[in-house]
Amino acid sequence: MMDQGLAVKEVDYEQPQNDVQHSGSVCATKHAWARVPVEPSVPQRAALKDKIRRLLKEKNAVMVSHYYVHPDLQDLAEENGGLVSDSLEMARFGRDHAATTLVVSGVRFMGETAKILSPEKRVLMPDLDANCSLDLGCPLDEFSAFCDAHPDRTVVVYANTSAAVKARSDWLVTSSCALDVVQALKDKGHKILWAPDRHLGGYIQRETGADMVMWGGSCIVHDEFKAVELEGLIAEYPGAKVLVHPESPEHVVALADAVGSTSAILKAAREMDARTFIVATDNGMMHKLRTQNPGKLFLEAPTAGNSATCKSCAHCPWMAMNGLQDVVRVLETGANEVQVDASLGLRARLPIDRMLAFTAALKSGHDAGSLVPNIGAA
Ligand code: 13P
Ligand code: SF4
Repeated sequence: MMDQGLAVKEVDYEQPQNDVQHSGSVCATKHAWARVPVEPSVPQRAALKDKIRRLLKEKNAVMVSHYYVHPDLQDLAEENGGLVSDSLEMARFGRDHAATTLVVSGVRFMGETAKILSPEKRVLMPDLDANCSLDLGCPLDEFSAFCDAHPDRTVVVYANTSAAVKARSDWLVTSSCALDVVQALKDKGHKILWAPDRHLGGYIQRETGADMVMWGGSCIVHDEFKAVELEGLIAEYPGAKVLVHPESPEHVVALADAVGSTSAILKAAREMDARTFIVATDNGMMHKLRTQNPGKLFLEAPTAGNSATCKSCAHCPWMAMNGLQDVVRVLETGANEVQVDASLGLRARLPIDRMLAFTAALKSGHDAGSLVPNIGAA
């Protein structure tokens, strides 16, 4: 049985004004605004990158970047001993790295997760206002009331949430492990309360048949992919394979040859025997997809057409807030340090640690299911 739980949530977004430090443009989507840094000139970029390389060494710092941020921030991370990856591996890498400062380029929940896992480290972000519609659409008070209304359910929360919401949960998941975790919980008799992404939750419910009540949030980027127009593009490129992030709507997921996290999409593109791919995820991914697969063609899944009310740019406005200039600034000044209250962090760490132990067991071929208690057991 699936109960929608709450109605689809609409979120009012803050529209931050440009200020002196952020003299770039303002990026707008249908629902959200964000400050986007000015694109530096070629010589400025080279100078900024040199500065960052030097500062990383001086400050014993390492960069951890998500696949959706500017290609410069992805390349710099990799070239300097850091990581570009999906949100699960970002968390693990930050926890395990010996650096005393982590520079997390991504959105707020990624910086918070890094801080929760490494309270002793300094975690800096290029822009602390880089948020996520899923996080914004799941405020603690309403979420707590939802949990209170379903005391018999195991609370499974997506990583794209605040530290406070994580602290109210039993299990944390990212898109790369959500299916496995929910399947294991279902096998042990758990009924699930899921939050906040309704599309990812719906996908997992269809795949596992788990009993789930769901929060009604969505990602403003993935919500914009259009199934009818995607069918048209597939007809134009009959040999193409379709790669879809599960935050996309059900009818888009139904057209996929592979559904998965950003890392799973990259893996599928490397391993699938096709020359052309249609990709339904943030177009920041195109950088890695194209550099890893020089002989293959990658097309963006449609966000416009008859079934669209506007043309979305398929790029997360908050991910776009991360820029070279701010990486230099935060390394030089120590500004934009992520803070998480220590006792809140300790509570939020429980579900994150469960997820990391579960996925480590899966990876090493151990029985991850044994880490999930039978319902009723302590
Ligand atoms: P991944 O966990 O797949 O990297 O996704 C994070 C995210 O924010 C997707 O929109
Ligand atoms: Fe959140 Fe969507 Fe941006 Fe990912 S792409 S950070 S889910 S708004």
